Amino acid sequence: MNWLPRPAERTAHVAPSLLAADFAALREEIENMEAAGADLLHLDVMDGHFVPNLTFGPFIVEAIRRCTRLPLDTHLMLVHPDRYLQQFIQAGSDAVTIHAESAADPAAALAEIRRLGARPGISLNPPTALDAIIPHLPAVDLVLVMTVMPGFGGQAFAAAGLEKIRELVRIRAEAGLDFLISVDGGINAETGAACREAGADILVSGSWLFQAPDRAAGIRALGG
Ligand code: DX5
Ligand code: ZN
Repeated sequence: MNWLPRPAERTAHVAPSLLAADFAALREEIENMEAAGADLLHLDVMDGHFVPNLTFGPFIVEAIRRCTRLPLDTHLMLVHPDRYLQQFIQAGSDAVTIHAESAADPAAALAEIRRLGARPGISLNPPTALDAIIPHLPAVDLVLVMTVMPGFGGQAFAAAGLEKIRELVRIRAEAGLDFLISVDGGINAETGAACREAGADILVSGSWLFQAPDRAAGIRALGG
């Protein structure tokens, strides 16, 4: 399993979200993003219940694993993520992120992800207060701050997420923790710079980055 160190101050790792890729040319899309400088790949798994959209399961994650050595950050937008952890980790996920709003017991699911050899992450939707995840911070390697309601790419960035990022930076330092802070939804050069300034370590970008005329320049712009 691969993972990433904390990036240097005011820089960020860049995670293309494959939701915006051309799935008829998935290997080319992955190789192209890797050549353009992507640091990891973000995989959006949706069940049609937790969010009103369906994407893919472990079978596709395993196919993606065979296309790249980049770390795979699997974002589970599932009502019952706890039922599928082993499958997603066996398929090659390096990090598995569950939602605080899911039906799973977060403490048990996060411990299970680590036991199975992957990096545990927790995510929260824009309306959810940080209080919901604070008890779990010592158990995670990644916090994924959603800056759109999950379900679809191409939505506008909700700036209230910036305050959550700043607060997480403060809590992490105070508590002596070392999780990475990732941000997902509506990330482009401008919103990405604001997230980096706030202290985000990973910027997830789907539609903006895949549509960028020059993806390497897009990744450099996001990375700072
Ligand atoms: C939204 C997903 C995101 C999505 C981001 O539910 O979690 O990862 O792909 O896409 P953009 O960057 O287009 O908002
Ligand atoms: Zn995502």
